[in-house]
Amino acid sequence: MKCLSALLFLVSFFGYVQGSYRPVVLWHGMGDTCCGEESMVKVQQVINDTLPGIYTYSIMLGDNESQDKKLGFFGNINDEVEHVCEILKNDENLKDGFNAIGFSQGGQFLRAYVQRCNDPPVHNLITFGSQHAGISDIPGCSKDDRLCQLMRTIARRGAYSNYVRTRVIQAQYYKDPNHLDTYLQQNIFLPDINNELDNKNETYKMNLKSLNKLVLIRFTEDITVKPKDSAWFSFYSSEGDLLTLHQQPIYTEDWIGLKYLDKNGKLDFKDCEGAHMQIPLEYLRDEVIMPYLSFDTGDEENSNLYDNAFEQARKKLKLNIQE
Ligand SMILES: *[C@@H]1O[C@H](CO)[C@@H](O)[C@H](O)[C@H]1NC(C)=O
Ligand SMILES: *[C@@H]1O[C@H](CO)[C@@H](O)[C@H](O)[C@H]1NC(C)=O
Ligand SMILES: *[C@@H]1O[C@H](CO)[C@@H](O)[C@H](O)[C@H]1NC(C)=O
Repeated sequence: MKCLSALLFLVSFFGYVQGSYRPVVLWHGMGDTCCGEESMVKVQQVINDTLPGIYTYSIMLGDNESQDKKLGFFGNINDEVEHVCEILKNDENLKDGFNAIGFSQGGQFLRAYVQRCNDPPVHNLITFGSQHAGISDIPGCSKDDRLCQLMRTIARRGAYSNYVRTRVIQAQYYKDPNHLDTYLQQNIFLPDINNELDNKNETYKMNLKSLNKLVLIRFTEDITVKPKDSAWFSFYSSEGDLLTLHQQPIYTEDWIGLKYLDKNGKLDFKDCEGAHMQIPLEYLRDEVIMPYLSFDTGDEENSNLYDNAFEQARKKLKLNIQE
């Protein structure tokens, strides 16, 4: 009897714990889609297995997977972000807010969501190998990715030519350190969300500051993103030196709230060993899901009880995860 009531307590308690995970929204990277079995679906599965009952949504633009992939190369990212704002606002499951993970370019796009819309609001934003400070070279393509090669061919006409700058997504976060004036005048996306222009948008800053955590993950062996440190907001000066975030005015003058987040312990810099977007599932589980996705701190009263129960659940769950 004692045993049974203890069991019932546990069942109801974990039922409660289960129900309280914040939903998670994913935005895939270039050349990938919402729904690849080996990419976003795999990530959703690991999140599912680790946090049973959680709601996850992987962003899809267009009517189907192939369109979604294409819109990762071709289009106007400002329009695409605006569309994502609508999708997320209309998803009933997200109405109380959510955590978000952006992969590669999906990271800076989700940051644009936070800065421009954030309705419903993001709690923790985690980005993997994203190009927050831009890229000094248009990314390379795998041999069999024809859309990607088409993108490169078109981008070679000049990232700031009228045609390219409004139609090729990668041109919209390309930043030539030798032609910063042209970048500021012509690039339709990055100078805006980084508040690099004279008219700073205070809403962008206010919204980014509202995050509980901004987690910037860099891939140690990344050769796809130039420089790989763009994942940490580092970029080249016009002299060609790599400047850290802390050495740039976006931080020192706090154009978008990064200094605020940093000073308040809300900005985490992390390294993931390996090449661009090669994420070991264990890393995902131990460094992302557990520390950033598994708590609902909204329930302060129960947080101690919750923490203890969670620690136990954590040990138990670890044993259940494959791979
Ligand atoms: C995640 O779990 C939900 C049920 O909670 C299920 O409907 C969904 O198919 C699962 N998704 C994946 C990718 O495992
Ligand atoms: C995807 O949607 C587009 C536009 O609606 C359509 O032209 C295309 O045939 C669809 N592709 C597939 C594979 O269903
Ligand atoms: C700043 O951004 C917000 C959100 O996107 C927008 O509504 C507003 O018009 C912008 N303000 C200026 C001055 O551009």
